[in-house]
Amino acid sequence: MSRRPGNPSRRLADDGSIPFVASIQSKSQNSPLLSIGLVIVGAIFLIGYFYSSSGGASSDVKDFSKLEGGASCSSEVLQALPVLKKAYGDSMHKVLHVGPDSCLVVSSLLEEEDTEAWGIEPYELDDVGAKCKSLVRKGIVRVADIKFPLPYRAKSFSLVLVSDALDYLSPKYLNKTLPELARVSTDGVVIFAGYPGQQRTRGEEVAKFGRPAKLRSSSWWIRFFVQTGLDENETAGKKFEQASVKKAYKPACQVFHLKSLP
Ligand SMILES: *[C@@H]1O[C@H](CO)[C@@H](O)[C@H](O)[C@H]1NC(C)=O
Ligand SMILES: *[C@@H]1O[C@H](CO)[C@@H](O)[C@H](O)[C@H]1NC(C)=O
Repeated sequence: MSRRPGNPSRRLADDGSIPFVASIQSKSQNSPLLSIGLVIVGAIFLIGYFYSSSGGASSDVKDFSKLEGGASCSSEVLQALPVLKKAYGDSMHKVLHVGPDSCLVVSSLLEEEDTEAWGIEPYELDDVGAKCKSLVRKGIVRVADIKFPLPYRAKSFSLVLVSDALDYLSPKYLNKTLPELARVSTDGVVIFAGYPGQQRTRGEEVAKFGRPAKLRSSSWWIRFFVQTGLDENETAGKKFEQASVKKAYKPACQVFHLKSLP
């Protein structure tokens, strides 16, 4: 996850650390060695500050390991954000993420300029950081069972991203949930689904999700989209592929691009 460096350094200045920088400059005329030393000390100080100030985020990252033993497609969404931005451009301005670890995806999206983001966490939240609790308190991230209609009006979002959530639904529920995702969006639904064989650690997974993931093949998904009357957005798919190549990004999950309901 990238944090914009502007943030911590601005806060440093606010804390009154400017004299420190000034002292580097004045001493650098006398002794280059001393100034190099000071720059190194300064760098260590900055790195230390950076780590401590992003402490919330890094402890959140550890939460991903709940799905250890297999790739988490929610962490995959984080990596894919720059590629998605290339493929969807302005359609990334109002995003809903559906899936476990939604707080992380939403926080990351909110760091972007001109981006609004919301999240649905389909499973109970346990053990989350303060940042996540605050998102839930503000109603930005909601805990909701996606087997039922989503608590949003039609076309509430430009783009819906969903990861590690549909794998846990049987076709009976998928039949309802997938059109729901298409209903609340205007410019598409991007699905991140596990590959068959990417099985996760069973015990913990069943405890969290109630059942193990049913990881389906690409042909299964495509047949399912046709059955439920949802079209793939080929333009978006192509743009996503091209941007992936350019950014040397290789998705570890299957990625599908669906059109929203008209
Ligand atoms: C899902 O919907 C399709 C088309 O509406 C239907 O053919 C199929 O039987 C449904 N599947 C289930 C499991 O309900
Ligand atoms: C298809 O994707 C493009 C972005 O690549 C988007 O602008 C367009 O609105 C999408 N079409 C539909 C019908 O969702």
